[in-house]
Amino acid sequence: MFKTNENMASTLTKEELKQEIRRLANEKNAVIMAHYYVDGEVQDIADFIGDSLALAQQAAKTDADIIVLCGVHFMGETAAILCPDKKVLIPDSEATCSLAESCPADEFAQFVAEHPDHTVISYVNTTAATKAVTDIVVTSSNARQIVESLPKDTPIIFGPDQNLGNYINAVTGRNMLLWHGACHVHARFSAEKIIELKAKHPDAKVLVHPECKGPVVKLADKVGSTAALLKFAISDEATEFIVATESGILHEMQKKAPNKTFIPAPPEETFDESGSRTCACNECEYMKMVTLKKLYQCLRDEQPIVTVDKEIAAKAVKPIERMLELSK
Ligand code: 13P
Ligand code: SF4
Repeated sequence: MFKTNENMASTLTKEELKQEIRRLANEKNAVIMAHYYVDGEVQDIADFIGDSLALAQQAAKTDADIIVLCGVHFMGETAAILCPDKKVLIPDSEATCSLAESCPADEFAQFVAEHPDHTVISYVNTTAATKAVTDIVVTSSNARQIVESLPKDTPIIFGPDQNLGNYINAVTGRNMLLWHGACHVHARFSAEKIIELKAKHPDAKVLVHPECKGPVVKLADKVGSTAALLKFAISDEATEFIVATESGILHEMQKKAPNKTFIPAPPEETFDESGSRTCACNECEYMKMVTLKKLYQCLRDEQPIVTVDKEIAAKAVKPIERMLELSK
């Protein structure tokens, strides 16, 4: 019987899928980049893994013809904006981000228009259209440094993550005007659950991503981006860590520090209307939409291609480049 391309992907074993991915990447001069939150097996096959900042920096300097961004849609958009002459692919175009979605561009533009004297700083977890009404993009790696690079009396709008915004306000003494968005994964970590876990593991250090809520951030021995938490976990003398960020990062932590113990922080319990416990976990379902099979199909078919409207891209590239300049 005639085998369709779709059929072929399902009949390949995992090993064959991996071989095909590498073969296609070499043949097409494609670079595979992955965020720390995607599945471990996708991270393992990538040419480059990193946090949001590192992925943008890497995209800006690659000489590959094709960039396959194993992550969520805004990451693909950022690469496409930085590399207008390259083909940028994303294994699942439905892989969105609740934080980016919490900041619709038209509403954010209205907010910006109401505060014309403010410098607008947006987290990289935004759509291209939101970046287009932004002065400087930041990631969790460089938000503090970039905010501190502005004169102390600069009025600033910071969006969309209110938890990151509150954290930056606290550590810099600024009073930035915040957009009230959040990441559903980071917002559900529970301070109570971490305190309970800490009682069972008193020597464990607590690693927290700044997208978590204030009470969780207060428990941290280290607050930082995924890359900063990874670096701390590898170099610190502690051998046990409670990790309050998306659980995909544990894969690289365990690989880089095989003799250390990494305990994923549990999310708070949630209940539906009938009072039954609902399944809450510390995984980002959007990041987990990226699978080996979809990566293979995307490289093979060279789609889905990430495209950004030319006019929007022309505006959005400026605040992204400003970030890259300020992060050198
Ligand atoms: P970083 O990659 O900057 O740590 O951000 C985490 C995140 O939520 C990406 O979606
Ligand atoms: Fe977006 Fe949160 Fe998923 Fe990161 S973890 S991609 S911020 S929804």
